[in-house]
Amino acid sequence: MNTTMIKAKLKTIIPSVYLSEVAKGLIEVENFLIEEGCRPSSPVLKDSLTSLVKAGGKRLRPIMTLLCGFAGKFDRQKLVPAAAAVEIIHTASLVHDDIIDGAEFRRGRKTLERRKGRIHAIAAGDYLFARAFELLAALKEVDAIDILTRSAVDLSLGELDGHLFRRKMNIKKSDYFKLIGRKTASLFSAACRLGAQISGTSKREARLLANFGWFIGLAFQAYDDILDVIGNERSLGKPAGSDLREGFLTLPYLIAMEKGQFVSEMKIVSSGRASKKFVKEVVLKIRKTDIIERAMEEARGLTEKAIDSIREISNPDLENTLENIGSYVVQRYS
Ligand code: IPE
Ligand code: IPE
Ligand code: MG
Ligand code: MG
Repeated sequence: MNTTMIKAKLKTIIPSVYLSEVAKGLIEVENFLIEEGCRPSSPVLKDSLTSLVKAGGKRLRPIMTLLCGFAGKFDRQKLVPAAAAVEIIHTASLVHDDIIDGAEFRRGRKTLERRKGRIHAIAAGDYLFARAFELLAALKEVDAIDILTRSAVDLSLGELDGHLFRRKMNIKKSDYFKLIGRKTASLFSAACRLGAQISGTSKREARLLANFGWFIGLAFQAYDDILDVIGNERSLGKPAGSDLREGFLTLPYLIAMEKGQFVSEMKIVSSGRASKKFVKEVVLKIRKTDIIERAMEEARGLTEKAIDSIREISNPDLENTLENIGSYVVQRYS
């Protein structure tokens, strides 16, 4: 993608004060991902990693790192490798997540596991995690390693929780939020804190921005889980209802069960005996209830909490821009 294309894509969420810098930064992040992120000595692995990066993705986390870099002095040279490292960790987590979930598609393409086999996909994910930390170490910013290491620990614990909760009926909403905090919000939070810290802003501002990232991450995952119920295959890049079919009782299903709705259907799904057709029917029925609206309300509430977290940051342009990002997160279609 060239600068004009990137700008057109960003224009809907980033106001003109930051557009040029963020677009320039994002182009450099893309180049960095290809040139530095996907450069193992093994050509087989290199092809796989390049195809993962080229398949696209919203680049939401690196955008947040770049934006939070405006909290203090915007230093593109440092922010670009940091934002790229965040995206590499995210990519690594997706490769492993797809193995764990048994997913068939990612970003509209067959997953790496389906294309190259399980061992190859495990190795690719491991390589990406390790490479992200190698790149961070080269930045010589002690805080950067600290921030992302904690988040990588959370990510792995989150995936483990997800596995432990799979096909279980006795999951509470508090378990769900703890899980998505670990597997998703922690990286969003780290992405924001990292940008802020690199800009040299105060610890307090960095903390407020990290809180923003945390709640946006929760809202983002909650909305992703809603999209899995209401989205269509073309925009999702995978069939709707994938979570339920894989035995993950996410927010909409937990809200349903809280009110005693669809309990017998959830039992069948959790027993692993549900056919694809059965899952599809359940999803279609849920769409016709008010369950989706209730789940959306929870996601919106989290976005509001995110926005409340940055009421006291000193840069009003940044506050407004991040507010836009908040609304985008609960309006996106993929
Ligand atoms: C997918 O993240 C995993 C979740 C946390 C829901 P994204 O939706 O940000 O994935 P890409 O990078 O845009 O493909
Ligand atoms: C997000 O969980 C994955 C990570 C944060 C690693 P999901 O399993 O919901 O993500 P998708 O739906 O596969 O993108
Ligand atoms: Mg998944
Ligand atoms: Mg999902």
